[in-house]
Amino acid sequence: MNDYAPTPEDKFSFGLWTVGWQGVDVFGPASRPLLDPVEATYRLAELGAAAVTFHDDDLVPDDTAREETLDRFGKALADTGLAVEMVTTNLFSHPVFKEGAFTANDRRVRRHAVAKTLRNIDLAASLGAETFVLWGGREGAEHGAGKNVRAALDRYAESLNLLCAYVKEQGYSMRFALEPKPNEPRGDILLPTLGHALALIAELDDPAMVGLNPEVGHEEMAGLNFAQGIAQALWHGKLFHVDLNGQHGPRFDQDLRFGAGNLRGAFWTVDALEGSGTDNRYDGYLHFDFKPPRAEAEDGVWESARACMRNYLVLRAKVRAFRADPEVAAAMDAAGVGELGEPTLGDRETLADLRQEAHDIEALGRRSVAMEALDQLALEHLLGVR
Ligand code: GCO
Ligand code: MN
Ligand code: MN
Repeated sequence: MNDYAPTPEDKFSFGLWTVGWQGVDVFGPASRPLLDPVEATYRLAELGAAAVTFHDDDLVPDDTAREETLDRFGKALADTGLAVEMVTTNLFSHPVFKEGAFTANDRRVRRHAVAKTLRNIDLAASLGAETFVLWGGREGAEHGAGKNVRAALDRYAESLNLLCAYVKEQGYSMRFALEPKPNEPRGDILLPTLGHALALIAELDDPAMVGLNPEVGHEEMAGLNFAQGIAQALWHGKLFHVDLNGQHGPRFDQDLRFGAGNLRGAFWTVDALEGSGTDNRYDGYLHFDFKPPRAEAEDGVWESARACMRNYLVLRAKVRAFRADPEVAAAMDAAGVGELGEPTLGDRETLADLRQEAHDIEALGRRSVAMEALDQLALEHLLGVR
């Protein structure tokens, strides 16, 4: 009997800001007390996590306590064996970033944003983090004329090039992962989807150093299919990291625990991370970026963290059972899923061969595609009746 208990081999990871979120929202102040990030580290280890991540300001918000906090944090890592797998910079909370960070119109703000990030890259490297996430929540606009989008993209690319050059010059083993989001806190954010971010990456000086950190809720806020998005990221070799959480369709960023919200989407997300039946699977950390609902007290914080991992493990078992089910294999054959792996033009064939072929297109128009039967099998695995 599987008890769905997480182990470090599962590579679950949590942002310290997730369990540390005090429930401040636009309509009200904190509903929970401050949580010491070092205490949170111990607690996450007890729950079965393998790693933690943080923004500079989550752990070391001010310089007076910086050394002492880093000492206590280092001890927590040593005591628990947790890794710091990713670090990110807060370029969105302080009012200095109200009009953007790397893409602020004010050049002094841009220079401050780069300097703040460089300092945090040094900290990340000293803790062994190999992924550095950049979420540009304030890189955007609410007005048409106030932001020259082409110039903003020039400056975005410039900052990324500077950061990549610094990492290489320092000899750090670190890659960057861009996290797209369509809106919130800005009305319209630059690099709103995975596709926008991929296109920018291709224009950088060293595209190999920069990939993606897709977040479930951010793609679903835009009405997009997350599993298909990460499948494309894997196809490009760009799935450097992932932010797992839950979302109920296009509305504000809910950051629900993984498995809440679009459960069917979560099933296909786990399937995509597991490679969708191929060897091209994601083998990085499974990082949860969720917010325990504001209504919950401290017990609910830890219950939601526990549930993120448990739901992933339950869904992984269901996905594996689905992929191993002989009826599913037969249904896939009936749907012709494997045939898509065959190139459209055969070996040594020419376009002339293809053009002279006669097809009964009326009959092809009437053919069975048998996808409902296949999808129903998936649904029944998810519903637990198979
Ligand atoms: C959000 C974002 C953030 C980022 C994080 C990393 O919910 O809008 O996901 O949580 O992931 O700040 O910089
Ligand atoms: Mn989010
Ligand atoms: Mn995120």
